[in-house]
Amino acid sequence: MNQTIECLMNHRSVRKYSERPVDPEILDVILKAGTRAATGGNLQLYTMLVLDDKNTLATLDKALEVPFIERSNCPVAIIALADQYRVRRWLQAHTDREVCNHRPYNFFMAIWDALIALQNSVVAAESLGLGTCYLGSGVELDVQELFGAPEYVFPAGLVCLGYPEVSPKLSKRLPLDAVVCHNRYHIPTDDDINRWYEERDRVWNTVPESRKTELSKQGIAGIAQALSIQKFSPKIVEKRSRGILKSLKNSRFDLYTGFDGD
Ligand SMILES: Cc1cc2nc3c(=O)[nH]c(=O)nc-3n(C[C@H](O)[C@H](O)[C@H](O)COP(=O)(O)O)c2cc1C
Repeated sequence: MNQTIECLMNHRSVRKYSERPVDPEILDVILKAGTRAATGGNLQLYTMLVLDDKNTLATLDKALEVPFIERSNCPVAIIALADQYRVRRWLQAHTDREVCNHRPYNFFMAIWDALIALQNSVVAAESLGLGTCYLGSGVELDVQELFGAPEYVFPAGLVCLGYPEVSPKLSKRLPLDAVVCHNRYHIPTDDDINRWYEERDRVWNTVPESRKTELSKQGIAGIAQALSIQKFSPKIVEKRSRGILKSLKNSRFDLYTGFDGD
């Protein structure tokens, strides 16, 4: 163990923040640590959009699928934007050739860059005693309309941060053999699946009987069934995917057109 490993092993998502403000100098350290992450071609294909103004945070809250900012008392949110706009401007200023940086390859390079830098900032924040929480619906945000982003910019990830009001319980993880294979993918047996997820199934036993009765009316008799109905139903996934496809369209990344010979 060292302090870095200890910090990583103690991660928990924080969904309630105290009134303690985040010092701008601390925020700069957190952002700077993020920018030290590895980055494709050393191009830093991202922009960290920091929302630390009450009105802007309220705008974000309104745009989220489930409001989080006001409920959690979150003082700062960071949207990691995959950004091919800035580098395009630079390249175009120095060449008359076509600059092609809006295709799947460029999109994924920028997404990786943005998320790797964001997670570095998350670790830095947690090491300084702050709490963080990713919000999945960040990728559905229309950053062009909401925050004036130009084309070739796409929201790769959204993290809220602030000082924790309370420290939540450490959540469990799957055993290492469930998520790691050596040299070749291991197709799990049914027994593997049952063993790996039995901890999750046990959570069902902690659900109060009255709630279980309520859920049974929706055909839910376990955690996996609850997830299939509440998180992975075609209707819910379609709704969320539509948001992502709309923000992809606004960003003008071209992920679908084939290449000559396809
Ligand atoms: C991509 C992603 C999306 C997430 N979206 C949400 C979210 O919308 N709301 C939320 O409360 N937590 C969200 N989380 C936090 C997870 O729920 C949390 O990481 C998970 O339950 C494990 O708990 P822990 O982070 O406390 O260990 C998200 C995390 C990730 C990585």
